[in-house]
Formats: sequence, structure tokens, C-alpha cells
Amino acid sequence: MRFPTSFLDEIRDRVPISQVVGQRVTFDKRKTNAARGDYWACCPFHGEKTPSFHCEDRKGRYHCFGCGVSGDHFRFLTELDGMSFPEAVERVAEMAGVPMPARDPEAERKEKERASLTDVMEMATGFFQDSMQGPGGAEARAYLRGRGISSATQQAFRLGFAPDSRNALKEFLAGKGVGKNEIEVCGLVRHGPDIAVSYDWFRGRIMFPIEDVRGHVIAFGGRALSSDVPAKYMNSPDTELFHKGRVLYNLARARKAARGGPVVAVEGYMDVIALAQVGVENAVAPLGTALTEYQLELLWRMTGEPVLCFDGDEAGLRAAWRAADMALPMVQAGRTLRFALLPQGKDPDDLVREAGREAFDALVAEARPLADILWMRETSGRVFDTPERRAELEQNLRALSGRIRDESVRRHYAQELRERVQTFFGAARQGRRGDQRGFGGRQQQGRPGAAAGRLAVSESLARSGLVRSAGGHMPLREAAIMVALINHPALIDEHFDAVEIMALASAELVRLRSALLDALAHGVAHEREALREALTAAGAGGALEQAEMLVRRANQWPALPEAALEDAREAFLQALHLHRSAGFLHKELKAAELALANEPTEENYRHLVEIQAELRNVQATEALIEGFGLLSGRAGRS
Ligand code: UTP
Ligand code: MN
Repeated sequence: MRFPTSFLDEIRDRVPISQVVGQRVTFDKRKTNAARGDYWACCPFHGEKTPSFHCEDRKGRYHCFGCGVSGDHFRFLTELDGMSFPEAVERVAEMAGVPMPARDPEAERKEKERASLTDVMEMATGFFQDSMQGPGGAEARAYLRGRGISSATQQAFRLGFAPDSRNALKEFLAGKGVGKNEIEVCGLVRHGPDIAVSYDWFRGRIMFPIEDVRGHVIAFGGRALSSDVPAKYMNSPDTELFHKGRVLYNLARARKAARGGPVVAVEGYMDVIALAQVGVENAVAPLGTALTEYQLELLWRMTGEPVLCFDGDEAGLRAAWRAADMALPMVQAGRTLRFALLPQGKDPDDLVREAGREAFDALVAEARPLADILWMRETSGRVFDTPERRAELEQNLRALSGRIRDESVRRHYAQELRERVQTFFGAARQGRRGDQRGFGGRQQQGRPGAAAGRLAVSESLARSGLVRSAGGHMPLREAAIMVALINHPALIDEHFDAVEIMALASAELVRLRSALLDALAHGVAHEREALREALTAAGAGGALEQAEMLVRRANQWPALPEAALEDAREAFLQALHLHRSAGFLHKELKAAELALANEPTEENYRHLVEIQAELRNVQATEALIEGFGLLSGRAGRS
């Protein structure tokens, strides 16, 4: 039955979500702040040892920062306990002490009617399955065998065959006592004022039952066996049960398989099926149209970061851009998209058949974030050789991030895109300036990765200071940035956003930063000595000492307390800029190397060489600064 929204709102408001969630999880005592209605627990949707599952009474919602699941009271009960929606409503109403609303006879009748339509669809599914196994299904069986679809997979997806007949299904259903009207309403026949005798909608096709979230068949897709028919694939028409923009093929199964983990959207039925057969069960597909907003919402209900797969050709790229444009206004923290681009001319079905599941897994692992796709669209194939063109790019990027509705994501996008512009135009200019001064050339010679035209840059990069290596090692530049901040607290206020999101490879420095942000939140980060005390009290004193030692040893004096604020600021900004450029370029480099490995084209090669050149520019600039620090340090001591 359908519930009035006001009723749902009322019971949701009366019951704190922590009470619903608390029946299934134990809240973490240390992280939870019950007075504020702020609760933390280990996520019940995915296995974990430290609590990243958050629920907030004020908002009446839960969210897991680990696996991305989120929702309200009802979603929690339907998704975790597998209750139907009405059952969940009843449970919450009971907890709220509110009686269930009186039944609406009209809505009840509709509900019954839908149920009987689902029964008809179920009968049709059985009919198609049987006819595939019968003598008339030989050709269909051979076709699926030829495409390598095992009979277990056929059964799992309930594949069937619609005989090449105008009335086989119609008569079968009539024989079961199904009325003419119901058959029509289900979209199983073609009928209408100018059709004297209605006839079967699907003829001579392999049948793919399309299910709703609960696993009820609500429509079919049909693939022609021969290639000389006008439409290779055909879907049921939209009906009371089926609205093609609101359904995803394989949604119910994918959700179960994903359990809050990654979900992949591919293009076609056969892709979903071929993937499932090699064990990738978390794939869904839209039904012959581009992904709709509604379908995107369906994906986000399953996972915070679904991966959309597109063809690597131009049409595929354009489709990816369309999807990116549609999604952009809707993104939120923990609710975004990634994009996987397939090798040209291959769909996931081809890919796993030729190269196995690993090839597909690798592709998904390399999926690019939304910001990359947008950046790619705005820059690819264009030349930014004049200030006007660069300004135009900047303007376009600003317009893009302006479309994001969520305020905080919008701010971060604006910053990220600005940063990319700086990297592309700024790093190159700085590098040139370095050469003019004469330091860069000398320093560059001794640097790994400086040999022109070599492809194996990432290896040499790994040894240079530019790359973020995970774990214990503390990179000098990161240390210098943090030390400058702490010794010159005015910089923290000025550059709070950048500091907050800056990528740090060293776990020690990550800890130091979080102590720093804490101190800031408590209002003790405005003055150097008070800040140092707070950091030491928070257990970050060791990290600070280590960082400072590193900085002193490298004579990066502008980061130290003795330096004037202006000098500290300049050095800090320069280091931050280099840090971002290097991080960003390194990501680009990896992508370019992969692209070249997949497709050794001239264009991919050129792209890689360009990125290598940019990286050398950044390295040269860094060499310059290091050299400069050394000289100044000596000068200071004498
Ligand atoms: P494709 O043409 O890429 O087909 O259509 P495919 O998935 O590779 O199928 P096979 O491998 O040839 O069997 C992708 C999707 O577009 C829709 C279908 O949903 C299909 O799965 N489509 C395609 C149609 O709706 N009608 C068509 O005529 C073709
Ligand atoms: Mn295909």
C-alpha cells in the first residue's frame, strides 16, 4: 500500500534514527556523542574493525564513510533486515506509538491489480524459459552456447525464447485464464485501434526478463537471433509496472552482491550477463537509453561511488561527458561517480571473453573521478596559447563547478579546477624562470628522470622526492609545508581549505595536521607557542620535532620560526604549489602510461611525453628551491 508522506514524516520525526539503528549495532562509546544525537558504530553493511558508520538524530539519517551506504529509518530496515517497505513502516510506527493509517480502498485495489500483473509477467517468463528448452528453442540454445553463456548463467538470469509466432504467448496466457486486457496492459502484445487482432510483442527473440528491486519480473528485453531484423534489441513498452528510465537491469542481484561496495554500470544486457558469469555480479545496465537522473539515484542508493563504463571511442567519450554533466549538480560528499573507459570498440562482454575478469577488474580499478572527465572535456584537443584562451578555460571551469548544488563540494571543485589550471600554466612558467636564473640546469643534471624522451619515468619518479610514497617515510616538502604553518600560524587561517585537503604521504604528518586542525577548532592555533603546546599535548610533538629536524637539515629556513612572515608565506605557497602539481602530474602520468600500454598510438605517446616534460619542469623548479635554501642557509650562518 501507499502511505501519505505526512504520515511517514511524522513517524520518522518521532523516532530517533539511533533507536532504529541501535537495535542492530553497538555504538562506539568513545566516538559517540549521545547528547548531540551523534552516533558512531562499526558498519553493519560491510565488515570493519573501526567505526566509520555514522548516524545523526538531528538529520534522521545514517551514512557509512567506509562503504558509502546511507539512508533513513526505512532504508535501514529494508536494506539490512530485508523487510518490505510496508513492514518497515509498520515497525517504525509501532516504535513511534502512532497507529497505522486507515487503508485506502482505491490504493488497495491498485496494489492488487499490480500484483496480478506481476503474476502474468511471471507466467510469461516461465513460458519463454520452457520454449527455450523445447524443440523450438534449438536455435536459441545454439546461439547462447555460441556466445559462451553457460546453462547455469541462463538459469540465473532466467533467459528464455519467444517463438517466431504471432500468438504463441497470447494463447498460452489465455489458456491459463488471463484476460485480454491484462495481457495488453502488461505490454505483451501489440494492440490498438488500427490493429484488428492483437499479436505477440516479441517474436523469434532471446528473452531477458527485467526485474524490479524486489526481483519481480516487470518487463522484458528481447534480442533478435538473426541480424537482418530492424532492431537488434527490443524492450517491453512502458506499462503500469515498467518505466524504462526508472529501472536498471540486474539491480536486485547487483545490490545483494555489492552490499554497499562498488557497483558498475555497463551498457547492455549481455555485458551484465557475461560479467556475472566470470564472477562480477555487481553490474547493472540501463535499458537501451542513456542513464537517467532517476537511475543515478538508484545507483547512489547502493553505493556512494558507482563506476560508469563507457566505450573508449569518441561516441563513448561523448556519452561519458553527458553523464558527467547530468550528475554534476547532484554530487555531494560521498556521493559521486567514477568513469571507466573501455578499450576502443570492445564492450565488457568482449573484454572478459578475450582477457578474463582481471582485465575488467583492472579497468574498474583505474576508473577516473568525475573531475578528471570534466577537465578532459574542457581541455582535450584545445590549445591555450593566449591569455584570452586561458581566461576562457578558467571561466568555463568556474561555470562548471558553479553548477554543483552542494556548497562544500562546490568549493572543493572550484579549488581543484583552479589548481589544475595553475599546474598546467603555472608550473611550466616557473620552470622557465628557473632556467633563466641558471640554477635549474645545473641541479637538473644530477636528477633522475631528467633524461629526455625516456618512457620509464615513473620508476625514476618513485625515487625522486616528488612521489607520494605510503607509510613511514617523511618527504621534505610535506614537512616544510607543515613546519611553516606551525611556525607562522597566520598562514593557517589564510590557507585553511588547502591545508585541510592537501594530500600527505607521511602518516606522521597526517596525524600532525589533524592535531593542528583540532587546535584550530579549539581556538588555540593563533599563536605559535600555544599551538606548539597544544600539538604536544595531543601527542603530535614527536612528529613536529622530526619534521623540523628535516627542515633544518635541508636549510629550508623560511619555514623556521626565525623567518619573517612574508618569506615564510612565499616559501609556503611555492611548496604547496609544487606539491599539488607533482601529485596531480603523477596521477596523470600513470594514466598516460596505462593508455599507452593499452593502445600504442602516436597520440598517446605524445601525451605521455608532454606529461614527462611537465614533470621535469616541476622537478627543475624544486631543484632550484632546494639549491636556494642551501645557499641562503650558508649565508645565514656565516
Ligand atoms: P549494443 O548494440 O552495444 O549491444 O547495445 P550489445 O550489448 O553489445 O549486445 P550484443 O553483444 O550484440 O548482443 C547495448 C544496449 O543497447 C540497447 C540494449 O539495451 C542493449 O543491451 N539496444 C541496442 C536497444 O535497445 N536496441 C537496439 O537495437 C540495440
Ligand atoms: Mn556485445
